Amino acid sequence: MRKAIIFGSVLGAMLTAGPVSAADGKAVYDQYCMACHAKGVNGAQKFGDSDAWDDSIAKGLETLYEHVINGFQGEVGVMPAKGGFGNLSDEEVKAAVDYMLENAQ
Ligand code: HEC
Repeated sequence: MRKAIIFGSVLGAMLTAGPVSAADGKAVYDQYCMACHAKGVNGAQKFGDSDAWDDSIAKGLETLYEHVINGFQGEVGVMPAKGGFGNLSDEEVKAAVDYMLENAQ
């Protein structure tokens, strides 16, 4: 009986730990990207608005990563490099882009 309990809790811990992810895209988005992208400030593509994201998605993921990491002057506005937060790692920025795109399908 006791063995079964130990086995169960080890398994439970393994399941809740999930895959190892270095950066949490949602957390980065909520803290650094939402200010402009939640409401579409200055022409920023609105979070969750799939029509608004069509043109960006068509550029390809690598181009989008590049635009967000280094900054990008678009037709409607400026996407500041890393949203203006130079302290973010490239990996954190990419995770946030992934999160935004997952919600723009
Ligand atoms: C100060 C406002 C602002 C912040 C903060 C901001 N963005 Fe943007 N972002 C913009 C604007 C404006 C555009 C639209 C540029 C255009 O298409 O004209 C944009 C465009 C983008 C695009 C599309 C680029 C393309 O080539 O189509 C992505 C992806 C993106 N932002 C991701 C992010 C991520 C990730 C963060 C947080 C790390 C972030 N943004 C923070 C203003 C912002």
